[in-house]
Amino acid sequence: MTKHLVLAAAAIAAFSASDAFAADADHGKQLYATCAACHGPTGAGNEALGAPPIAGMPAWYTVRQLNNFKTGVRGANPKDTHGQQMAPMAKMLGTDDDVADVAAYIETLK
Ligand code: HEC
Repeated sequence: MTKHLVLAAAAIAAFSASDAFAADADHGKQLYATCAACHGPTGAGNEALGAPPIAGMPAWYTVRQLNNFKTGVRGANPKDTHGQQMAPMAKMLGTDDDVADVAAYIETLK
């Protein structure tokens, strides 16, 4: 019985992992064209613009930050000039799939 539960848990874990990889990094690459203006084509960032390096960031973290910008958890305070530049960019990612796809692409950047 316990063994079956362990197998079931492993199956669920495998499913969730493959689900995460279902994000479409090729589509993300197209979306990233906009981001490259500030974060650079390789995601190395641009200090003069206050845009941090984002290359290789884990997708789950990028998704969380992009959603924070979209919902105003980040970048809503008028004194937060850098956050205010980024927030409208995150809002351009219309769907959760767009967010997941661009995050998947960013994770592949070195
Ligand atoms: C107009 C310039 C600009 C563009 C275009 C831009 N960003 Fe940003 N981004 C910034 C700035 C500035 C910050 C820093 C915000 C802060 O200090 O809170 C930032 C922060 C971020 C962060 C948070 C990093 C961290 O360590 O928490 C992520 C993720 C991010 N950007 C992703 C993107 C993505 C994806 C796109 C394209 C859809 C994009 N950015 C387009 C300027 C830009």
